[in-house]
Order: sequence, then structure tokens, then C-alpha cells
Amino acid sequence: MSAYQKLVAQSQNLFEQFLQEINQQNAQELTVKYLGKKGLFNQLAAQIKDLTKEEKKDFGRELNQLKNKLESKLADYQKQDLPSQIHQDLTMPGIQAKLGHLHPVSQAIEEISRIFERIGFVRVSHPEVDWDYYVFQALNMPANHPARDEWETFFVDQQAHPNLGKMVLTTHTSNGQVREMERVKGQLPIRMMNISRCYRRQSDNTHTQMFHQFEGLVIDKDINIQHLKGTIDYFAKEFFGPKTKSRIRPFHFKFTEPSFEVDFSCHICHGTGYIKDEHNHKINCRFCKSGWHEVGGAGMVHPNVLKAGGIDSTKYRGFAFGWGVERSYTLKQDLNIDDIRLFYSGNQEFLEQF
Ligand code: FA5
Repeated sequence: MSAYQKLVAQSQNLFEQFLQEINQQNAQELTVKYLGKKGLFNQLAAQIKDLTKEEKKDFGRELNQLKNKLESKLADYQKQDLPSQIHQDLTMPGIQAKLGHLHPVSQAIEEISRIFERIGFVRVSHPEVDWDYYVFQALNMPANHPARDEWETFFVDQQAHPNLGKMVLTTHTSNGQVREMERVKGQLPIRMMNISRCYRRQSDNTHTQMFHQFEGLVIDKDINIQHLKGTIDYFAKEFFGPKTKSRIRPFHFKFTEPSFEVDFSCHICHGTGYIKDEHNHKINCRFCKSGWHEVGGAGMVHPNVLKAGGIDSTKYRGFAFGWGVERSYTLKQDLNIDDIRLFYSGNQEFLEQF
């Protein structure tokens, strides 16, 4: 038998061997064995160098046909063998799971909690659906008092409690004040941080019907306004950045005396109220009102509130503050969010930025 005849016989044997093995091994293994770099086909093809010029031409054709047949059979087999390959190829890279992240408001709540924990505030949780008594009455706002009008309240349609009144969706986290005084049962001091959902019948670019507030309450001997201002300054620098200033303006809440509104300096115009345009001319800052942003209220706890919580106001004093989480977060440097309703719009493109 000539070298040429031997090779032709070998190529036929190779194809027959392949047909026997095709249903016994998986497609990937067969491809490597027959068509891989050091596979059986290439080993056979390498022997072409021993043939004459004429034989090379003929055997070359044989080899082409053999390769085409192997490739087409393997392609068909690969299609039907696909599920088993997925299970069997342990070297294939896995499918990466898409990772989500905390909602920006949850991120803000985490950050705010850590900031106040560092100066000794303890995070507690008080109801977000509560009795009228804790939301208004115990806070020095008796039934029918006009001060209640400011809190555009959602009432729960159920039987009123004989002493605690109607059930409401909490309009502010201040309901936690008397609840906390009752919880500690005279074990003072109190350093409470209550972060919770609140509800009001309001909707515009700075108001949502459901929002979050964070409420600080400190009660101890010899507490005064300087402690309150120091706490506000500390938060301003930690949350908004070291250059941020704070100020308190006289205001009126029934549950604090004196009462204040709390402002933080605008990070765009640094509290000046103006910025420079492209021609270096001074123009009013469009982001703030005269250099400041209001984030909420604060004050010294009213003696009537201490009394409602069973605390002797001749021995103890306290301060409290309640600020909007969403409002504070939108004022953070570089965020420039001009509509807080976006937080609850379910808009993926907006949320994925945080
Ligand atoms: C209060 O709710 C008082 N309880 C704050 C307080 C606590 C005063 C303790 C004194 C002592 P006010 O209604 O101003 O205050 O609300 C405080 C902040 O909550 C607002 O400045 C704003 O940042 C946020 N806020 C109020 N209503 C909404 C709303 N509908 N949507 C989003 N944020 C709101």
C-alpha cells in the first residue's frame, strides 16, 4: 500500500471513529479531540508532506472534505448538546448578578444616624401611625387649637380612643418626644434620634405626601440654647461639608419655647446670595433664598411638654429639633435636586445615579 493510499484509509477511519464517538462525548471535548490545534485532523494533515506533488493535490481535497464533514456534524451536535455543555463546562465565566443599592433616602438616613451616634444620640423608633394625643395634644396643641392647621393631617378612619383621641398618620416625628419621655420612665438623660416617615396633605417640588424627618431630643440638667446651636453646627459641617454655616431664626412652635427655624448656608453661593455669571457679573443665586436654606424647626422643650412626659421642668430642661431627610439630602453639595418628588417617582435613571 502506497503512502497516499495509507493516508486515504486513515482519513476514512478517522471519520468512522468520529461517528462512533459523537454521541458519547460532549461537543466541546470532541471539537478539541478532532479539530483542536494538536487534534487528530491536524496530525493526519501534517503527514501530507510525505506525498508527491500530484498526491498532495488529491489528498488536500480529501482533507478539505473531511474537515467540512467534521465541522458540520459538530455544529449540529453542538446545537442539540447545548444544555449539557452549560452544565458541564465548569471553566465558563458565570452570569454576573445585577447588584442594586440602597435608595438615596435610605443612604441619607444611614449617614444621619452615624453622625448623631458619634455624639451620643441613641436611635429609637416610635410609631408612624399614632394617636392625636402624641402628635398634637401632648405637644401643647389642645383640640381645636388653630396651630394644628399647619400640619395638614391625614386621619385614620377608625373609632377614636376615649383619652388619646383620633388615630393619625404622623405629621412630624415630634410625636416621639413624649413617647420617649414615657419610655425611659424617669431614667434621664435622654439623647434620642427618631427617624421616621411622616405624612401631610401636600405635594409640590419641595413637598411630598410621604416624607421622612429626623428628630433629636436631649433632656438633662443645665441644657441651654448653646447646646442646641452646637449640635446644629456639628451636623452642618458633618453632613454638608466643613465650610457650611448654620443660623437659627425666631419662630413659633407650640411645643418649644423659644422656637427657631434652622437654616444652613447655600453651598453654591456660600451664604452670600449671589453668584457670578459668564461675564463675571454678580447675579442672584438661583438655588437659595439670599444665601440660606431652611431645613426645619428647633427649640427648647416647652415646660408643658416635659410635664406631659412626667418630667419635672424645674429640674430638667431640653432641646429638640426636627428636620426633613429629603430636604436635607437635596441640599448636599453637588446634588442640586430641584424636585424631591423624584425620590418617589420610581424613575430608575434618576435612582441609579446615587
Ligand atoms: C416640624 O415638623 C416640627 N415638628 C419641627 C420641630 C421639631 C420643631 C422639634 C421644634 C422642635 P416643620 O413643619 O417646619 O416643623 O417641618 C420640618 C421640616 O420637615 C421642613 O422644614 C421640611 O424640611 C420637612 N417637611 C415638612 N413637610 C414636608 C413635606 N410635605 N415634604 C417633605 N418635607 C417636608
